[in-house]
Amino acid sequence: MSEDAVDQDKRRFLVALTAATGTVGAAGIAVPFVKSMLPSERAQAAGAPVEVDISKLQPGELMIVEWRKKPVWIVNRTDQNLAELSSLDSKLTDITSKGSKQPEYAKNEHRSREAQKNVLVMVGICTHLGCSPKHFPDLAPAGFEDGWVGGFYCPCHGSTFDLAGRVYKGAPAPSNLEIPKYKFLNDTTILVGDDSEATA
Ligand code: FES
Repeated sequence: MSEDAVDQDKRRFLVALTAATGTVGAAGIAVPFVKSMLPSERAQAAGAPVEVDISKLQPGELMIVEWRKKPVWIVNRTDQNLAELSSLDSKLTDITSKGSKQPEYAKNEHRSREAQKNVLVMVGICTHLGCSPKHFPDLAPAGFEDGWVGGFYCPCHGSTFDLAGRVYKGAPAPSNLEIPKYKFLNDTTILVGDDSEATA
């Protein structure tokens, strides 16, 4: 091989090596970026508690937030709404929520924290087959007999729930709507998905 040919080979080798080193360098830089998108971290973020400002939620109104890809309803019930809950006992399947899902502090008639009992925080997914019921604060859903005092109606197969998410007798839904963990950070801010160190 001539000297020129040897020089040319050396140059090709060096160019190839530089290109390879560049690739490794790029991969090295890319690692933290890829790591920041690991599925486990995304899943963790998706399951994180959600802070909600309810300062503009008027009595009788409902707002919806998303937590763990589920709709969570927050309802500001009136004193009348709360008083009417006890008139429904004979019409409900699980009055005391024995067979339903909620934290211990929401296992009561109003299914909410005692200190802020008017505020209902509830997963808006029907316990029958997972449809999302609709809020009927005043008018009764079609076909409902007399005595509607506000609640929720699932149009998929006709389950009805009161304003504490308790299912009416005869509905296909087997249990009351789910209450998630939550706590108040102050009078107008709720943290959905976390109830650690909360007392009332
Ligand atoms: S999914 Fe709600 S009644 Fe069937």
